[in-house]
Amino acid sequence: MQITNKKDVPEELIVDIEKLSNLGYGIAKLDGYVIFVEGACPGDKVKIKVGKKNKNFANAKVIEIIEPSPYRTEPICPMQKVCGACQLQFIDYEYQLKLKKQIVEDTFFSIFRDNSKNNIEIRDTIASPKNKEYRHKIQYPVSETKESKRILAGYYKPASHEIVNIKYCPIQPSYCDNIIEFIRQAAQDCGISGYNEKKHAGDLKHVVIRTSAYNGKNLVILVVNSTRIFDKLKKLASRIYKELDNIAGVGVNFNPQKTNLILGKETQILEGNNFIEEKLCDKVFKVGAETFFQVNPFTANNIFEYIKKYISENFKDPMILDAYAGISTFGICLSDVAKKVVTVEEVKASTDLASKIIKENGIKNVEIHNMDAGKFFEKELNTKGRKFDITVLDPPRKGCTEESLNYALKLTSNKIIYVSCNPATLARDLNYLVEKGCKVEFIQPFDMFPHTYHIENVAVISV
Ligand SMILES: C[S@@+](CC[C@H](N)C(=O)[O-])C[C@H]1O[C@@H](n2cnc3c(N)ncnc32)[C@H](O)[C@@H]1O
Repeated sequence: MQITNKKDVPEELIVDIEKLSNLGYGIAKLDGYVIFVEGACPGDKVKIKVGKKNKNFANAKVIEIIEPSPYRTEPICPMQKVCGACQLQFIDYEYQLKLKKQIVEDTFFSIFRDNSKNNIEIRDTIASPKNKEYRHKIQYPVSETKESKRILAGYYKPASHEIVNIKYCPIQPSYCDNIIEFIRQAAQDCGISGYNEKKHAGDLKHVVIRTSAYNGKNLVILVVNSTRIFDKLKKLASRIYKELDNIAGVGVNFNPQKTNLILGKETQILEGNNFIEEKLCDKVFKVGAETFFQVNPFTANNIFEYIKKYISENFKDPMILDAYAGISTFGICLSDVAKKVVTVEEVKASTDLASKIIKENGIKNVEIHNMDAGKFFEKELNTKGRKFDITVLDPPRKGCTEESLNYALKLTSNKIIYVSCNPATLARDLNYLVEKGCKVEFIQPFDMFPHTYHIENVAVISV
């Protein structure tokens, strides 16, 4: 079929799915015109209904599977089609790993401007040790039904803010389902309403649970719209703490803003502790409500051990800089194979916990800084004049600024190990480093987020 104008694309047609896009859509091509198909797997022949058409691409939905891909499988969750959280659950897990590697390759080869640098070794994706009940953190938005005012809590339907009231979620520890069910009922008993996003009214906006893979304890945070209902919240927190098992602590977070950010600035613990514990690389960590922690502690542990092994095989007593450090997880795990580790993180709650963690684990060679990473790099260059054999960069999804990368280059004498949850910004930043004369030795994808399109990558770069 020849496509010279988007109007030439029929409303319904049968296509072969060739690949998976970086957002988990099946890709079909029509004379070079790209169609992103929701719920399709490479190898499928499907009848689709085309939605919005743009100049070079359109979106579509499957209306009939004509010939299924051999990689299709039964989803582990009955809500997979309506809930937007696990886009790939209908695809065989081993094949998901292959598709994730393909996504990383496609992203790199489309971003790297110089084709001669395209021969970067991208390794096979390392599977998650668990692909069920792997999540360390869940954050359910909350609302209520119009008439009966029943509390609803769950994930949003794809591309909407309509909540799917989830009673069972196979990717989170099963006890979280009990906690959420208890809160649905107990909040209503305590006179606490669910949030109405359109009217910016109602009380309970989100429930956030941190759950420990180490000892099964849970930290429950109730995110609320206002402080007016404080007595009711105290009652609810007390019931959660006393009537449920394995609750480490219960807190409230006040977030009166109309915003997409889940947590507001202030969290107050009403019952128990303000942290849970996780064990990684034989060290016990404390994780708080506001501190970053990797979503999947099983894969996180694999990544820390992988980097530790790489360093112990290639260096003797290196100086290591761990930037964007959170609770200094990398720094603390790598302290066994380093002369000294210096960590920098801008969130004070994280560096405060990191200081406690090194004390409790008897670690003497980790130095912690609470600062913006870029400012710290600049200060370090201008004052101390220290050089690091290895710099670990683990920035947020948006990646690093060119300024920070330039500083990191000046501070590092041998390797940068760049850990990233966003292949696009990783490719952009590696492209910049290659332009500055660095060599990407290899990229190792890890499956931190089974059944979703997300991928974690570790890139080793020689400076
Ligand atoms: C992807 S997390 C990694 C945390 C840690 N490496 C880990 O594995 O748990 C990114 C961290 O960078 C921190 N961060 C974001 N921007 C920063 C900046 N400009 N300077 C320092 N830290 C920053 C965030 O608070 C977060 O803790």
